Amino acid sequence: MPKHLSLTQFRQLHRDPLQFFSTLAQEEGEIAGFKIGRKPYYLLNHPDHIHDLFITHGKHVQKGRALRQSKRLLGEGLLTSEGALHLRQRRLMQPAFHRQEIARYADCMVAETVHFSADWQPATTINIVAEMRRLLLPIVAKTLFGGEVSADVQTVGTALDALTPLLQTAMLPFGNRLLDLPTPRMKNARAALNALDVLVYRLIDDDTGEGFLLSMLLAAHDADGGMSRQQVRDEVLTLLLAGHETSVNGLAWCWYLLATHPKILQKLHDELASVLAGRVPSISDIASLPYLDAVLRETLRLYPPAWTIGRTALQPLTFGTCTVPAGATLFASQWITQRDARFFADSLTFNPDRWLTDDAPRKFAYFPFGAGARICIGERFAWLEMQLVLAILAQRWRLELCAGQIVEPLARVTLRPKHDIYMRLKRRVHNVSQAAEMSEVITSLR
Ligand code: HEM
Repeated sequence: MPKHLSLTQFRQLHRDPLQFFSTLAQEEGEIAGFKIGRKPYYLLNHPDHIHDLFITHGKHVQKGRALRQSKRLLGEGLLTSEGALHLRQRRLMQPAFHRQEIARYADCMVAETVHFSADWQPATTINIVAEMRRLLLPIVAKTLFGGEVSADVQTVGTALDALTPLLQTAMLPFGNRLLDLPTPRMKNARAALNALDVLVYRLIDDDTGEGFLLSMLLAAHDADGGMSRQQVRDEVLTLLLAGHETSVNGLAWCWYLLATHPKILQKLHDELASVLAGRVPSISDIASLPYLDAVLRETLRLYPPAWTIGRTALQPLTFGTCTVPAGATLFASQWITQRDARFFADSLTFNPDRWLTDDAPRKFAYFPFGAGARICIGERFAWLEMQLVLAILAQRWRLELCAGQIVEPLARVTLRPKHDIYMRLKRRVHNVSQAAEMSEVITSLR
């Protein structure tokens, strides 16, 4: 029978959930239970149990309370919907995320990153999370809506800035009541959400069918017809929210790890130099950049942007020798399992080489994008985006960590740095003029 949390443990759960879960896993083992009030919670900390959660019992669980409450903002989008609606939406949307479709977004990712890089000045100091947000925002906006959104990218940015903390609030116990508070913060956030809704509905109504994600959502249909306007709006908001902060934080952690591991950074530079020889990378280069891929894989192991996944049991479920009651909340935490020395040798060391051996990690010990029927639909998009951005920027820039900073993770909706991380820019490529580079990209896009 799981024990009630003490007041100290309860405070730690809210203040520092990473430490809370780590201690729980160390003390209680593979199935670590606890109770808050009358509700039982379990942290599943073994790949077999994680497999059972996502696969064996996949049909007998639903999203946890936090995500259910975020329906107030996201409506019935893919992240929050359940059952038949989720299944239909997933089927309708999956084609837009097929390999060949994702490849079509690569040009936009490359052009935006080259353009962004041309704006950086050597010997300046940047806030890495803010910069990755500034770079990835037009990428996500333009791949979703097409080029005509250019003038409205700032509306999307303002709404996302307001929505991310709003989502955090919505996920708290009684969060929905907090959202209605007449405070200036809530009023501003609601105004930003309304502005985004107006923009999304305008883009839906003006869609030119250019083949970007929104056009594909609007064109998708099955025997029961297509999606309603409201459903498309919910999906668009979901994609914006699920796809932006996660990739921003993944890349920010990657730059931090590279800046603190100079030998690994050098190996990455060597690979980029020998494979690309100064060329702007394209999607066809990715397969020839295994070290780049390993660096990102290892980043998402140590700093998984989605650091935990919650589910509610719809019926009693068995994990190994333990049966949990209906209504129990179940967690699988990437932060805990992906850092576990039972599954990864020297588990706290940043070592991209571990991904270049023949020993694949144990299945369900590594799940940065989740698993089973609810696995991230944007996984391919995210890999490609992170690979191209990292390749292009690391080819041109060395990012050095400014001295005297405290870098700690903060576990909120995503795992992000607790404080801003400042880095200094050093230019690497001197022989490619910006004009030559831009014309190279423009030619490659024709
Ligand atoms: C590094 C980047 C990303 C990470 C680490 C990540 C992680 C995840 C995880 C762990 C889930 C599963 C949640 C659960 O089971 O409860 C998920 C679901 C989802 N993600 Fe991502 N994601 C990333 C990028 C993206 C991108 C770029 C998009 C869209 C363009 C996206 C859209 C979604 C959607 C719509 C779902 C819900 C899927 C469903 O339930 O059918 N994600 N993501």
